[in-house]
Formats: sequence, C-alpha cells, structure tokens
Amino acid sequence: MKRKKSKQTQPAADSGVSRRDFLRGAGVAVSGSILAGEGLLHAAADAPGAVRGPGETEVVLRINGKQQTMTVEPRVTLLDAMRDRLDMTGAKRVCDRGTCGACTVMLDGKIAYACSVLAIEAEGRDITTIEGLVPEGKLTPVMQAFVDNDAQQCGFCTPGFVMAMTALVKHNPNPTPAEVDLALSGNLCRCGTYHGQKAAALQAAKAMRA
Ligand code: FES
Ligand code: FES
Repeated sequence: MKRKKSKQTQPAADSGVSRRDFLRGAGVAVSGSILAGEGLLHAAADAPGAVRGPGETEVVLRINGKQQTMTVEPRVTLLDAMRDRLDMTGAKRVCDRGTCGACTVMLDGKIAYACSVLAIEAEGRDITTIEGLVPEGKLTPVMQAFVDNDAQQCGFCTPGFVMAMTALVKHNPNPTPAEVDLALSGNLCRCGTYHGQKAAALQAAKAMRA
C-alpha cells in the first residue's frame, strides 16, 4: 500500500529565504518566547501561591492521618519525600520508574506508585503507607496471610504487595484467582513468591469476609 506523503513547509524554495535564514529566524523567535515565558513565570511567582518552584517550597502532606510539613523542590517524588525527609522507609525504591510496585501506597484509598507521583501533587490527598496499616503493631489479615502462606523470601517487594492486596480485599472482598492475578499484576517479586502471595490474597479475603 502506497503511503500518503505528508505535506511539508518549504520556506527556502519559493520565498527566497534560505533554510539557514529560516532556522536562524525561528531560533530568535523561540528564544524570544522562552524569555517572555520566563518573565511571566517570575511575575507569577511573585503572586502568593500561584507558582511554586523551581526552588524548594513548603509541602504539606497528610500521611496515615498525620500532617507532615517539609520543604522540597517541586520535582521531588512522594517516595523520595517520605523516605529522605520523613524517614518513612516502608515503601521501597527499586525501579524508580513505575514498573515494579515496590513503592506502592494508597492515595485516597486507591493504589499508586509513590515513585511516579510528585510530593507536591499529593497535597490534599489521604496518603496511606504500609506503616499506616499497623498503627498498633498488630498484623492485619493480609499480613497474617503472608506469614501463613510463606509468601515472602527477601521481603523487599512485600510492603508493595501488602498494599496492593489490602486495596484488593477492601474493594473486592470475594476475589476470584483471576482477579487476584490482575490486582497484583502491577507488582513484581524477584524471588518469585507469586504462588504464596496468591494463596495469601485468597486467605486474607476469606478472613476479612468472616
Ligand atoms: S520503585 Fe516505584 S514502581 Fe518500582
Ligand atoms: S520476596 Fe524477594 S523480591 Fe519478593
């Protein structure tokens, strides 16, 4: 099948302007708009609360029901803010690119990768971490099911799995094995304890129903 040629702008051919002139002109126009944009940015930054950053800014997070105030650059992820500023190391940093699920937390009750959310974006939301599941140090049914089913080896992925599994049984108290697979598909375990984790999810759901 013949491909339709896309139309291209040809400034040099019929306008008497060389390609080099065109590019030079475009460069000036672009840098002009960048400068204008910077000016606007600075002007906006002067208005209180309008623009934050690029330097450090105060961020208030509600984590496990507690207000936490810190100063971070807007580019800092929720995961790094929690681990580096609050010493909350339950959520793990493994891939740091939204692939492995080791950093799983809940935002307003729904699971999220903390490495893929900026701290500043998480303001005003209810953040729940693995630390928040056991305020009294007692194992939850999901955690107990992990123990009972030997669902961990090195344990590095475990907090992320526990968070994903907790969200699953909360929203679906009677999941099928296929639904468990789907719910845990965003988490990876390098030790390969998937069989135990699946059994743990089914046991936890049963315990929660009871
Ligand atoms: S560390 Fe966040 S998904 Fe892997
Ligand atoms: S238990 Fe080791 S990575 Fe999952």
